[in-house]
Amino acid sequence: MNLYYTEEQIAVRDAARDFAQNVLKAGVIERDTHMTYPEEEIKQMAEMGFLGMMVSPEYGGGGMDTISYVLAMEEISKIDNSCSVIMSVNNSLVCWGIETYGTEAQKQKYLKPLASGEMIGCFCLSEPEAGSDATSQRTTAIDMGDHYLLNGTKNWITNGSKAKVHLVMAQTDAAKGHKGINTLIVESDWDGVSIGGKEDKLGIRSSDTHSIMYTDVKVPKENLIKEDGFGFKFAMKTLSGGRIGIAAQALGILSGSLELAAAYAEERVAFGKPISKHQSVSNKLADMSTAAEAARLLVHRAAWLKDQGLPYDNAASMAKLYAADAAMKHSVEAVQVHGGYGFVKEYHVERLMRDAKITQIYEGTSEIQKLVIARNISKGIIHEPLLAHPS
Ligand code: CAA
Repeated sequence: MNLYYTEEQIAVRDAARDFAQNVLKAGVIERDTHMTYPEEEIKQMAEMGFLGMMVSPEYGGGGMDTISYVLAMEEISKIDNSCSVIMSVNNSLVCWGIETYGTEAQKQKYLKPLASGEMIGCFCLSEPEAGSDATSQRTTAIDMGDHYLLNGTKNWITNGSKAKVHLVMAQTDAAKGHKGINTLIVESDWDGVSIGGKEDKLGIRSSDTHSIMYTDVKVPKENLIKEDGFGFKFAMKTLSGGRIGIAAQALGILSGSLELAAAYAEERVAFGKPISKHQSVSNKLADMSTAAEAARLLVHRAAWLKDQGLPYDNAASMAKLYAADAAMKHSVEAVQVHGGYGFVKEYHVERLMRDAKITQIYEGTSEIQKLVIARNISKGIIHEPLLAHPS
């Protein structure tokens, strides 16, 4: 794994940093307070190519690698995690899924506008009674010959009311369990698609989270992804990449919390010296900084494995598990370093602390990441071997 960034990767990171600090920061408290969707900001992110970063230029994307993507995710997540989750879902779950498994016609029709950000996509797996236990899908897609008839309800869907393109997992044959699940591409304006109210959430408050109801929606056969029965594997493969994006989001929350706490500790004086000179505070900063570096190494390793075409499922779970738990733990500490100021919105750390919680929940809870890692241990993957250089 190369620890030096290329000039292109550095340029992407710097562009994301400038955009986050100079554009997103100004209105982030207001948007968070009033749960306002970042309409203008997402438009600008689309223009900058952040919504289809890894899609090949042939389909209008940036053709960038996963390292560039996680660098951009980290910078944007230091400031606005509603924007970064919108970006992450569109890039990792929707665009990647269609580019990797879609037909040429699906790529022409859906991937191109998704990559340019002209359209936004959503990923509809979770249900009222199927969250971690994702094989227990109640949504059904009945084969009617030339189309599927889709019925069911999906919960907690990021981009729910804004997405024009839905990737929907549905059961075609309950007797086949996970082998009877298909993924279908559904358009939001088709008859029978209705959107529930916006969720009022603890964190990522301006992201667009809704339930979606499908009632007798006719989905043409050409909108099936890959083949009958591939829907669950599609969800799992896609989520492995998604977990790298969310791990990068958690890393951004952690490194953003550290930057704020370190700056505050330098300027705040108590007992005659900056609080950074008090060991009770400096120890917290040292722990935060070490955790951020450890998280960054895990996130970049998972991204690098993906870029090399090597297996990355386990690495993605480890990165997400570690980065999310560290973001939660240390964003609380960043609030503590700020004392009373940390408890008010103006100082930004309380928002990062609230945002951290969701990284332990969505795209597989921390408990599910442990389950994935533990299952790999029982298959004998105890240490991931260092790879010899291919040459
Ligand atoms: N790649 C390919 N195939 C995979 C896979 C992977 N990463 N993981 C599992 N599979 C395959 C298995 O090989 C198995 O197939 P075979 O029977 O052919 O061998 C099949 O999938 C079923 O796997 P399991 O037997 O392991 O299934 P399980 O029910 O025991 O558990 C699980 C699987 C890992 C717990 C899975 O259900 C899971 O990841 N749950 C969490 C769901 C999740 O992450 N939801 C996030 C919602 S989306 C979201 O949050 C987006 C957003 O808006 C931000």
